[in-house]
Amino acid sequence: AVRSQVVESSRAWWRHAVVYQIYVRSFADGNGDGTGDIAGMRSRLPYLERLGIDAIWVNPWYRSPLLDGGYDVADYREIDERFGTTSEAEAFIAEARSHGIRVLVDLVPNHTSWDHLWFKAALAAPAGSDERARYHFLDGRGDHGELPPNDWQSVFGGPAWTRVPDGQWYLHLFDESQPDVNWEHPEVADEFEAVMRFWLDRGAAGFRIDVAHGLAKAPGYPDVGGAANDGRGQPEELPYYDRDEIHPIVRRWRRVLDEYDDDRMMVAEAWVAAARRPLYLRPDEYHQAFDFDLLTATWDADDFASIIAASISSAQAVGSDPTWVLSNHDVVRHPTRYGLPNDIEPGLWLLDGDRGLLDEERGTRRARAAAMVTFALPGSAYVYQGDELGLPEAWDLPLDVLQDPIWHDSEHTVKGRDGCRVPIPWEPTGESLGFGTDGSWLPQPPEFARLAAAAQENEPGSTLELYRTALELRRARLVDEVGFELVDRGPSVLAFRRGDSFTCVTHMGDDHAELPDGEVLLSSGPLHDDRLPPDTTVWLAS
Ligand code: GLC
Repeated sequence: AVRSQVVESSRAWWRHAVVYQIYVRSFADGNGDGTGDIAGMRSRLPYLERLGIDAIWVNPWYRSPLLDGGYDVADYREIDERFGTTSEAEAFIAEARSHGIRVLVDLVPNHTSWDHLWFKAALAAPAGSDERARYHFLDGRGDHGELPPNDWQSVFGGPAWTRVPDGQWYLHLFDESQPDVNWEHPEVADEFEAVMRFWLDRGAAGFRIDVAHGLAKAPGYPDVGGAANDGRGQPEELPYYDRDEIHPIVRRWRRVLDEYDDDRMMVAEAWVAAARRPLYLRPDEYHQAFDFDLLTATWDADDFASIIAASISSAQAVGSDPTWVLSNHDVVRHPTRYGLPNDIEPGLWLLDGDRGLLDEERGTRRARAAAMVTFALPGSAYVYQGDELGLPEAWDLPLDVLQDPIWHDSEHTVKGRDGCRVPIPWEPTGESLGFGTDGSWLPQPPEFARLAAAAQENEPGSTLELYRTALELRRARLVDEVGFELVDRGPSVLAFRRGDSFTCVTHMGDDHAELPDGEVLLSSGPLHDDRLPPDTTVWLAS
């Protein structure tokens, strides 16, 4: 049924939702084959309800060779047999809803897997065919076409082009197993609309859209002068990101979502400059876009304050709300990031950085403090599985277990993202710490035992209990509160008020800061009388 958007969507659920990201492969293993699955997810729904979340975003669960963890989709309408079946997925969506939890699915429209029927058909068809036109197939340069069509690089490393036996080259902004589709081909747009309807008809609350900034490529495929591709950028610098031609595609998707009832929504993974983000959030485009500025910010009160202020005002200017993220399946987990000095690039440190630089306790304190900041802010917050247990990055993974294509594609110069994708510890002892009954596809580091969910359950002061309490307080005090105001409480202190009676204060410096007056509702760590220790957030009723 068509519904009236304007009035109702002003209070739509997603505006203040806490969304929990499930990396299916690593969440819970229901059939004991070492890989997480839908059966495992079902068994943990009571846990998620108790945590106090509103929705789940499920990373790609479709049929896939899993060469990029499922972001290489072979069939958008089928669940990979390692994860379950399509009817199990549908049942999961319904069952989650009976726990009060909506389910967002991950849509990967920038590229398919090389196992997708379309790509197989493209390989079997000649140069210039319609089958090839659904991707970006070009002739090479050089006397015999032996050089790639241009100098574009892949995000994971190496050229963004791979040659096929008849001599043509195809574009892949990511791994060679992920050919980019050509959004100028009408069948591409029709097919993705049909896929959206397929999942909306099965109860999905909406979509997280992968590489939302990558769908359009500049005509003529101009060279970039050797510029690296770090997965983000502006159209003037990189002719394959953030182009204006993306927006009509998004508007068509939005029209589809608006045909459905129950406030379906979509959130963009758009790695674009902050000033360009509002374009994606216009009322007829995305509902939300992740704020990756906070995700990539180091521990600094001024940086946090300016990112937060900018994100709130730019989202609200176009009628959206900000969307906070501290970790996801692509970045070094934040307890580890915050445990490293600010001038160290965590993703590079993983491989062979000085281990002595890591202060894990400090990282954990800061991670707890940062979570309370994101939960106190207006807008919605995304929690990556294991954040609520305070899981650090598994930075010590042996090189021979690595699966992320970045490791291979970077010619072993970047360790990649496996360390944030290690299976969840549910129990402090036993086979794969309760993840499943027969090991896990990546080894869990020894300290995961202490951080297991069951070990933190009802444990005062545990990160799990901190999350539960914070989310409960948020629901009670903050979701209906529209006000937000930054407050100056001196250097190295991030402070803001929500409405008349709620203050959030974080000490991000080294010394002690003064604790403002008011009743302490919750703090991320111990307080000392009227002093707020470093790396601590406190919520006050005042
Ligand atoms: C997104 C995903 C990442 C994936 C890439 C290619 O950035 O989050 O995991 O590798 O897209 O699909």
